[in-house]
Amino acid sequence: MNTPPKSSEEMLVAAAQAAKEHSYSPYSNFPVGAAVLLEDGQVFTGTNIENASYGLTCCAERVALFAARTASAAKVTGLAISIGRAGVDLPKESLVPCGACRQVMSEFLAPETPVYVDGNRTFTMGELLPHSFKLTR
Ligand code: THU
Repeated sequence: MNTPPKSSEEMLVAAAQAAKEHSYSPYSNFPVGAAVLLEDGQVFTGTNIENASYGLTCCAERVALFAARTASAAKVTGLAISIGRAGVDLPKESLVPCGACRQVMSEFLAPETPVYVDGNRTFTMGELLPHSFKLTR
């Protein structure tokens, strides 16, 4: 039997889940994975990396976006996030990117770009952060 090809949403969510396996989150015990799809088809992933000096922690979304931009200037066409431990139900309010990451995402994702959140729904960038800050002079 032929298996149907995976949608870019499924592929991207699977990449975020895989990245989450490498989370370094000994302080919060709250793993997060993220995956960024570029228009040329490349996928870059990130996970949250915590630090004993808590404020130095970097969220998964930013790690993934910075890795993508370091490798390529191609447009971002989608971002997926997987939050928390498999099999542990989290409330919907925990299944969203943090505010700081939304601003960073808005630098690289157009308002209509989809943000797939594993276990929650698909948002657009514009829904997650309307009126994002832009430096226009
Ligand atoms: N975290 C993320 O990686 N992304 C978010 O959007 C929300 C929070 C991480 C930071 C920290 O390592 C842990 O989740 C608990 O806040």
